[in-house]
Amino acid sequence: MKRVGIIGVGEYLPKKVLTNLDLEKKVDTSDEWITTRTGIKTRRLAAHGQACSDLAINAAREALEDAKICSADVELIIVATITPDMQFPSTACFVQSALRARRAVCFDVSAACAGFVYALVIAQQFIARGTYKNALIIGSEVLSSITDWKDRNTCVLFGDGAGAAVLAPVSSGGILSTYLGSDGSLSNLLMLPGGGSRHPASHRSIDMRMHYIKMRGNELFKFAVKIMSEAALQVLKLAGLESKDVDWVIPHQANTRILLSMAKKINLPKEKIFLNIDRYGNMSSASTATALYEAVKSNCIKKGDIVLLDAFGGGLVWGACVVRW
Ligand code: ACO
Repeated sequence: MKRVGIIGVGEYLPKKVLTNLDLEKKVDTSDEWITTRTGIKTRRLAAHGQACSDLAINAAREALEDAKICSADVELIIVATITPDMQFPSTACFVQSALRARRAVCFDVSAACAGFVYALVIAQQFIARGTYKNALIIGSEVLSSITDWKDRNTCVLFGDGAGAAVLAPVSSGGILSTYLGSDGSLSNLLMLPGGGSRHPASHRSIDMRMHYIKMRGNELFKFAVKIMSEAALQVLKLAGLESKDVDWVIPHQANTRILLSMAKKINLPKEKIFLNIDRYGNMSSASTATALYEAVKSNCIKKGDIVLLDAFGGGLVWGACVVRW
């Protein structure tokens, strides 16, 4: 089995910024409530007509350049998303076409906010076994397209963006351990009920606002703290490490309070949790991906550091990964 590492990262964020003050004008909320309950100050919104693949392609180009890999040489493209351009073809195929990555095998992964970690684990298997020489993985979301802008419980939380990474064999460091889990019995805590084969689009589904995210925030909050802590400890154990060995946690950014509670639970100083939720909100699969990008590009993560990726999302699903950078 080959050792697999992350050899390049990229990011794309749409230009339009939506502030808490802007949201005060749309729903009955306040900057003070959003800031204290979530840690979010601003989020980005895709332009009209800008789809998931448009964001993904920009992040992918930067990651390939960073990895010094030509798109014609890419062998695998995985896009993690819950807001694909269309039900099919996969968004990964649109990315392939734009990049002219003709050799690549392409598919999407549906694991909500844990999607980027799921994509990373899938890609690692293919590369470790020698099936493919490299992989481009992307977390890309236009959550604004499935956000109910009349629902103050959810609309203050989400944003649009994309992050990408290139994986390939490395001679030292790389991915030390991975850990995935799912519990479908909790699917009712977070879902988008309309538009699939259960409730195909109809006048009724639109009237009932079924094409928007439905979330039971309070229950999710408690679950998230528990499962992110458990996943962190499990994946560290698999790597033969402990909390004290971690240099940086790159978590899914659902709520600052979730992350601070998790840090306390696993005995990690809060300064080791990389946060970008204040600027971008929750971007589902793109949150972990952009946090990784920004932690690398701001020189927080240094060569040799132990980096812990940790995410959870609708399914419910969760995933964690330890990387020696
Ligand atoms: N502005 C003002 N008040 C609000 C707002 C708002 N935007 N939203 C809710 N409230 C009110 C509620 O109506 C409630 O009022 P009440 O007490 O009069 O009934 C009060 O604030 C408290 O509501 P709670 O839901 O108990 O607030 P909580 O502290 O739990 O925070 C939050 C809510 C931020 C949603 C939190 O539960 C959370 O972050 N949960 C996890 C979310 C999560 O992880 N989501 C994953 C999504 S991933 C994806 O969808 C792709």
